[in-house]
Amino acid sequence: MKKYYIGADLGTSALKLLLVDFDGNVVRTVTESYPLSFPLPGFCEQSPENWWSALSRGIRKLVSKEEAPFVRAIGVAGQMHGLVILDKNDRVIRPAILWNDNRSAKETDYLNTVVGKEKLLEYTGNIAFAGFTAPKLLWMRENEKENFEKTDKIMLPKDYLTYRLTGVHASDLSDASGLLLLDCKNKRYSKEMLGICALREDQLPRLFESHERIGTLLPEIAEMLGLPEDVAVVAGAGDNAAAAIGMGCVDKGSCNISIGTSGTVFVPCEEFSSAADGAIHAFCHASGAYHLMGVALSAASCNKWFCEDILKTSDYSAEQEDITLDDLGKNHVFFLPYLMGERSPINDTDARGTFVGMRMDTARKDMLLAVLEGVAFAFRDSIDIIRDLGVRIEQSTVCGGGSKSALWCRIIANVLNIDIVIPESEQGPGYGAALLALVGAGDSESVSKCSKRFFRAKTVISPEPELVARYNERYEKFKKIYPAVREMYKEIN
Ligand code: XUL
Repeated sequence: MKKYYIGADLGTSALKLLLVDFDGNVVRTVTESYPLSFPLPGFCEQSPENWWSALSRGIRKLVSKEEAPFVRAIGVAGQMHGLVILDKNDRVIRPAILWNDNRSAKETDYLNTVVGKEKLLEYTGNIAFAGFTAPKLLWMRENEKENFEKTDKIMLPKDYLTYRLTGVHASDLSDASGLLLLDCKNKRYSKEMLGICALREDQLPRLFESHERIGTLLPEIAEMLGLPEDVAVVAGAGDNAAAAIGMGCVDKGSCNISIGTSGTVFVPCEEFSSAADGAIHAFCHASGAYHLMGVALSAASCNKWFCEDILKTSDYSAEQEDITLDDLGKNHVFFLPYLMGERSPINDTDARGTFVGMRMDTARKDMLLAVLEGVAFAFRDSIDIIRDLGVRIEQSTVCGGGSKSALWCRIIANVLNIDIVIPESEQGPGYGAALLALVGAGDSESVSKCSKRFFRAKTVISPEPELVARYNERYEKFKKIYPAVREMYKEIN
């Protein structure tokens, strides 16, 4: 009998849907875009209703009438940390405040300094970052009192979609880790954090492991989507955890680097551990274990910005053609990729993109190379912290738009001194979400086995000793730039 699974990735600019069969093959994909709004500098919002229209429209395009009876389950992955609030009639109160919104800098500072990082680490395993959900709730309590008081349910972006599908308020542990309300190690909400944010536990979604079924389609939704009513909906995962599942990144020693709008370094671990100062995230993995993660807020978006907005070209690969092997590791230009402030490890909403070192002979390609290298150095910042915790990382898979550039992958292999494994086909978090659905439907024994069974490597880019040495030297210089300009960012903002 044919069996199909739907995976969805609720991204920042679009929702990507995949129809996957029992053997892990991608039968079809559909992408539906929606707008972002920036009501004030540093603010970033989206309408949950737009996400839902994208999902319902997309599923109808994705699945044919012949395939529909064989759809077994749906998994949704998505952008993490966004704040969605519903009133007592389950109506959305205000637009969602997204992961890259920096309005809660003051509240973040309050959490880290007044409550204190030690306490936050004790309660959640993490410190506060402006993108996280708890600081946004504190911001709302202070700035939109009426909305705060009307709030009956708090959810993460992808949980709004599974709620619309099933009528169940649920979340999974990987995504809930980014609320800063979860005691990640013990996989339960932290009473202390609920107290600090003046919340009740019944306002928060019920917690599940990522592959667990939260329910089945509501009858009217099944009819509207043209799917059977017994289609299971699993809890799903945060986009980075779902991407890791899709890339076979579940065991100790593995790593997945995502070069998307944001850039992440994702390292699974069996036991819960966090960095002493919380500079990188310590979250639950969609496999049922844990992971460490460093987040660069701007990664492929730095390349997009430099090519499209500054150089006025959308041909990224043609732009990289002038960069020769001989240019690598010798660039006199440096770039700090903090176009949206930065998360790991500097945790600074005031930080900004910064070029340093230009001369009269600086060429266009030197600046582009500096952009690509700056993102790789930002990954190195996180990898070094993870290595300092005693975790060995010898290789990493790569995913996200930036991973299409062989040059960028080569730079990353040499900056990090690890093998970079390029997948045969890369479908992002939506593929991981489809695999979670496959497990949740009872069609594979475990998330970990399913994740490794379907991953295929295409090529491996290995570090080259001479380039590694050159990049080590460049990285030492890169590390000195931020401390030298940090105070100035505050002034110019
Ligand atoms: C992770 C994070 C981003 C978003 C992007 O902590 O904030 O990677 O999940 O979608």
